[in-house]
Amino acid sequence: MKIGKRINHLVERVPAGYDHLWDCCCDHGLLGMTLLQNKIDAAMHFVDIVPALMTELEGKLRQRFPVAVGQSQSWRLHCIDVVDLPIAEVDSSDSARHLVIIAGVGGDLTAELLEAIHRRNPKANIEYLLCPANRPQHLRRALIKLDFYCLEEQLVEENKRFYEVLTITAQARQITSEATPEQNPPVSLLGDKLWQPRTPEAQDIATRYRQRTLAHYQRMQRSGDLLAAEMVEGLERMAIQQTLDVKN
Ligand SMILES: C[S@@+](CC[C@H](N)C(=O)[O-])C[C@H]1O[C@@H](n2cnc3c(N)ncnc32)[C@H](O)[C@@H]1O
Repeated sequence: MKIGKRINHLVERVPAGYDHLWDCCCDHGLLGMTLLQNKIDAAMHFVDIVPALMTELEGKLRQRFPVAVGQSQSWRLHCIDVVDLPIAEVDSSDSARHLVIIAGVGGDLTAELLEAIHRRNPKANIEYLLCPANRPQHLRRALIKLDFYCLEEQLVEENKRFYEVLTITAQARQITSEATPEQNPPVSLLGDKLWQPRTPEAQDIATRYRQRTLAHYQRMQRSGDLLAAEMVEGLERMAIQQTLDVKN
């Protein structure tokens, strides 16, 4: 299976330890199929609203990932609207860990879908991996209103386009030892780790993304857009902090 940089990056952002992975708005199912190929332990759920896509995907899954006799199915298809994600129906245990992945749709739709899932499953243990196709700041603004916390964030570049990739959660997590307790920071409008590249390549991407985003919001600011004014002010102040990996 040939996968691009963006999908590859998303696959790498999925650590072990989840019980259920949800490839929402899965379309061709490339992301979920790559995770299946990597022999993940979790149950893989493919979700899309278009029946024809799901029928085609089911054929591919049956061919590439057949279920052996006596084995439980490691993948499932759900031809539904993502707002109706059956989190509690597939696993009613409070301790079940879910990763809901929403990638490749706009920032506004990503926010709408996430908010619906979050409101309908207030007690479930869910983390979200998000990669909006556009308007990431609109998504961030919604996440700030919902009091979400940022676990990870990176930039990825593919075909001259930049994508923000965020792993977020509704519950703050302690990330350091008991002696120096520190929690994951809340999601912010501009992002934090986004501007702390660890490699020269990531530094170059962050520098060019900042330039492009600043130019975009400077244009929008002329029409009196309030978000644009906030973005311009923040990006002009932003120093891209180098935390380059030192190799011995
Ligand atoms: C551009 S594709 C994204 C594919 C893939 N996730 C990626 O990152 O490349 C968008 C898909 O989202 C699906 N979609 C849009 N709104 C949806 C919704 N509310 N519920 C389920 N699927 C939806 C569409 O049917 C389409 O297949």
